[in-house]
Amino acid sequence: MSTVKKCRVGVLISGRGSNLQSLIDASFAESFPAQIVLVISNIEDSYGLARARTAGIPTRVISHKDAVGKNKPREDFDAELNAALHASNVEFVCLAGFMRILSDGFVRAWEGKLLNIHPSLLPAFKGTNVHERVIAAGVKQSGASVHFVVPELDAGPVISQSVVPVLAHDTPETLAARVLEAEHRLYPTALRLVCEGRARLEDGEAVFA
Ligand code: GRF
Repeated sequence: MSTVKKCRVGVLISGRGSNLQSLIDASFAESFPAQIVLVISNIEDSYGLARARTAGIPTRVISHKDAVGKNKPREDFDAELNAALHASNVEFVCLAGFMRILSDGFVRAWEGKLLNIHPSLLPAFKGTNVHERVIAAGVKQSGASVHFVVPELDAGPVISQSVVPVLAHDTPETLAARVLEAEHRLYPTALRLVCEGRARLEDGEAVFA
């Protein structure tokens, strides 16, 4: 019988879902303190949904577009997300390649419970096209960060990071692949810290016990 009380986690995706897969794989271990209880995608044919179904995890598609293909008001979309997460009694939310910017209201409502993974050593290289910019900048190290989400994009307090080298002949693709491998180890580690109460958000800072 399992002795670890698992926290209930919802994962928000938009695409291939390889980080989702790393969280699913980790969650199968009896000693891992989280279970994925819901996967939501805003894109109907995202491969991550298939990964969730294969693992027997409930899925929802919540489109950011309305019936005529126009973007819904952000608050309406976020209210749908929020309702689905609460209906599944989700305690923590992991963004894993989720390509929508969340409203301040949603972020505040989930403060300290909302995590994101970003493929750089934050606060360096926030935003998109990270690997191109890392190579262009000529830095010798890059990596991945898991952080608490705050209203400002990619600006939340870092929970955990992983460093990888930038090699002489790297292309954005080769660097992305090296960083992605690191991401797959990092996200479960960071989620463990948060679920075990060993990392939390306090007064806008990440605090570690
Ligand atoms: C990852 O590189 C993640 O850091 C970024 O989006 C990508 C998602 O990849 N936020 P996947 O869908 O998890 O494979």
